[in-house]
Amino acid sequence: MSILARLTRVWLTRQLQPFTFKNEYDEKLDFAGCEGLGLYVHIPFCRQLCSFCPYCREIYDAKACDEYIDHLIREIHMVGSRLKEKKHVTSLYFGGGTPALAADRIGEIIAAIDEHFIITEGIGLELHPDNVSEETLTALRRAGVSKICIGVQSFRDKYLSILGRRDPDPAQLTEALKKVQFETVSMDFIFMLPGQTLDDLKADIEMAFSIGANHVAIYPFIDFAFAGSGIEPMRKQEKRKLLDDITLYCQSKGYVRDSIWTYSNKPGSKYSSMTRDNYLGFGCSAATLLRDQFKINTFSVKEYQKRIRNNTLPTSLTLRFTERQRMIYYLFWYAYSTKVDPREFENFFGVSLKKAYGFELWLAKKLGFVTEEDGILRMTLKGAFYYHHYENYYTLAYIDKMWGIMRHDAFPQKIIM
Ligand SMILES: C[S@@+](CC[C@H](N)C(=O)[O-])C[C@H]1O[C@@H](n2cnc3c(N)ncnc32)[C@H](O)[C@@H]1O
Ligand code: SF4
Repeated sequence: MSILARLTRVWLTRQLQPFTFKNEYDEKLDFAGCEGLGLYVHIPFCRQLCSFCPYCREIYDAKACDEYIDHLIREIHMVGSRLKEKKHVTSLYFGGGTPALAADRIGEIIAAIDEHFIITEGIGLELHPDNVSEETLTALRRAGVSKICIGVQSFRDKYLSILGRRDPDPAQLTEALKKVQFETVSMDFIFMLPGQTLDDLKADIEMAFSIGANHVAIYPFIDFAFAGSGIEPMRKQEKRKLLDDITLYCQSKGYVRDSIWTYSNKPGSKYSSMTRDNYLGFGCSAATLLRDQFKINTFSVKEYQKRIRNNTLPTSLTLRFTERQRMIYYLFWYAYSTKVDPREFENFFGVSLKKAYGFELWLAKKLGFVTEEDGILRMTLKGAFYYHHYENYYTLAYIDKMWGIMRHDAFPQKIIM
């Protein structure tokens, strides 16, 4: 990790102690008292593995996928059955991989979840454009999915060929989306690819909204070292201009920004599993965030299943937060939604944000990164660029290192960051 990342960590956590992830776990997850709990389920299968993608995934095989889901359902019961009564949770998101490949079993997974939890804000699921057919969407709708997210990446041949992806068929998407309705239809795009212009992005966004999306996510391309995509990332100045231009464009069209990378053309259409006070993750590579710890399941499907068969949680690494580490983690992910409510921070930590980070707040305002409106801190255009810059940095310093190790070692002894 670079000196700068280390110094920033020491400054913000007020201690020399690094983030230490250890090969240990509690047999019981202490989530019964957690407020604002979200659920995440990981299904790691894809028809083709994209070179740029960092997620835990493997080639789809119907039998392997079925076996995996049998284990997943056991994990849900193993964790959920510790509750004395059903627990209210905000949302449930299925990510991957390509969870839509298991469309015919999503209902069973939701039924297992429903035995222990009451979902109050809907169920989201990711699809590859190839999965968008009337039949699959109907199966998902019947299972209770209310929000979908389609990984389009781009509608332009030039960028699809850089990403090694096939053309999505807009006519097929339009037809299927017309026939089966969802509360949120989101489409993912990757930007900051070599040569990409504002006009390319505007065309992608408008195409998405015209064929049935009501929400778009435009993710800056992250060049994960372990993925070895060979794609040249854009230079800093070019990135900044594109990021500012696309933000201004979306503002001028009246699109509502609900997180740093996402916009909707209809109020209320949201798709985000990111900003949660706490969450429980099921499946290989899924993370769990509780009041005082962060856990991540093994990335190995084989080892995941072995642990479940032994009635043991599939946790690979656990980080036990110090209070300051937890505060930084909280702020980082709230900033992702472009706003932080100091009252919610105080509710969560029992100490005011001003008391914990008064100097940093003052500095962020002075530097023009945030403004305060009605007691809520909102990120400015400049703040959004630096957040992007820092997130990219954080992703490469922390996630790249951790996932890079976990892809090859199912249960690493320790990872220090
Ligand atoms: C799990 S995939 C979505 C569903 C499906 N597997 C697909 O690819 O269509 C999640 C999303 O992460 C984004 N993503 C993947 N790799 C990325 C990278 N290196 N940089 C930025 N975004 C990336 C893509 O936009 C992708 O749609
Ligand atoms: S981008 Fe989607 S389809 Fe491609 S490997 Fe990643 S999860 Fe699978």
